[in-house]
Amino acid sequence: MNKKSRVVALCWAVAFVLCGTAAQAAQGPGACVTCHTFLGGELARPVVEWNGSIHQQNGITCDLCHGGDASVDVGNVQGLAGQGFADRMSRAMSKDHGFIGKPSGKALFTMCGQCHRQSVDRYAKSIMGKAYLDQKGGPSCVTCHQAHRNTIPAVPKVCESCHKDTTGFDQIDPMDVTASTVNALSGIRIKIAQEKTTGKKPPFIPVFPSDLDPFQIGFLAFGAVIVMFIIGYIVYVALEKRR
Ligand code: HEC
Ligand code: HEC
Ligand code: HEC
Ligand code: HEC
Ligand code: HEC
Repeated sequence: MNKKSRVVALCWAVAFVLCGTAAQAAQGPGACVTCHTFLGGELARPVVEWNGSIHQQNGITCDLCHGGDASVDVGNVQGLAGQGFADRMSRAMSKDHGFIGKPSGKALFTMCGQCHRQSVDRYAKSIMGKAYLDQKGGPSCVTCHQAHRNTIPAVPKVCESCHKDTTGFDQIDPMDVTASTVNALSGIRIKIAQEKTTGKKPPFIPVFPSDLDPFQIGFLAFGAVIVMFIIGYIVYVALEKRR
């Protein structure tokens, strides 16, 4: 590379960097993030949690869940006077743009279902999904996955707030608990219980059952004598034949 082409290359590089930052600045983080960060406290907590989450990493911004208009220009939000602030706020969070505040019941399923149709359908027809929709204490999507830092929850830890016995919960699909899951679960629990008892007792050491009454002991002894008699007879017959 000669000196001239090096200078040209450098100019291009600088131009690219400048263009990149300019484009980013023009797009900005969106009105929702800007204003809610500015508000601080509880109203900024969703932003803090959402930053770095799987949704943020995949470009799922506030407005994709909550609706509203993230493109409203809030400019320098600190400088907005009362009326200007209220105006930006109502335009960004306007019902005309389909804004949803805190969804619950069907509205929550519709929100998540825009992108997770299969998960929602699976959950909606499960025992717990129905218990949620019928307001009978079933967990919502957000109980298990949180609203803004969505994660795959730790099972059975997340179940313990509602269920005392969580044995075997790590072996079922909590999004799809049906009558057949309940069946399978009791099978799993019996197996776990058996594994526990056989694990403790050394095998093949005969223990004389202590809780038998005298009649049962007599009956067992009588049975034992008969069995010995039969064995003795078979041995006798076999020996007779060999002669
Ligand atoms: C100019 C400031 C401002 C902008 C822009 C803004 N908000 Fe808000 N938002 C607020 C304030 C203040 C509150 C609390 C008062 C209220 O709920 O009316 C709030 C409350 C909320 C709530 C809670 C509502 C409830 O029912 O509890 C949600 C959700 C929300 N905003 C989402 C958004 C989303 C999504 C956007 C972007 C499309 C957005 N906000 C843009 C100021 C703003
Ligand atoms: C994956 C969907 C989703 C995204 C993305 C999302 N929210 Fe939410 N948000 C919810 C749900 C669901 C609730 C209701 C939570 C509940 O009922 O506990 C909620 C509740 C809220 C509330 C009410 C207070 C609270 O914490 O419950 C505010 C304010 C809010 N969101 C703001 C925002 C802002 C600002 C963003 C962008 C940084 C954002 N949300 C991104 C789903 C989302
Ligand atoms: C606008 C689309 C969109 C909406 C609305 C949305 N999500 Fe997501 N969600 C995604 C994308 C994209 C991913 C990352 C890719 C993937 O794993 O599918 C994701 C990932 C997830 C994950 C992590 C999956 C994993 O394998 O780690 C969970 C949990 C989740 N979302 C729950 C929710 C819940 C609960 C709601 C409703 C409150 C919701 N999402 C609303 C698009 C969305
Ligand atoms: C009782 C807790 C619980 C509830 C309630 C729940 N989930 Fe899940 N979800 C899980 C667990 C655990 C996993 C990981 C294992 C699996 O895939 O089944 C998961 C997996 C997911 C995934 C990753 C993809 C997949 O299907 O494996 C998404 C997306 C999701 N859930 C969304 C939702 C939505 C949307 C709702 C509400 C309609 C919801 N979940 C309700 C516990 C729950
Ligand atoms: C917010 C409370 C809540 C949470 C959290 C919760 N459940 Fe449930 N669960 C319920 C309710 C309510 C029912 C329905 C009870 C009924 O109708 O018999 C139920 C029913 C069940 C059933 C079928 C009936 C039974 O008791 O055997 C299973 C299995 C189950 N849940 C597993 C889980 C698992 C696994 C998790 C954690 C990933 C979990 N649950 C978290 C409330 C909850």
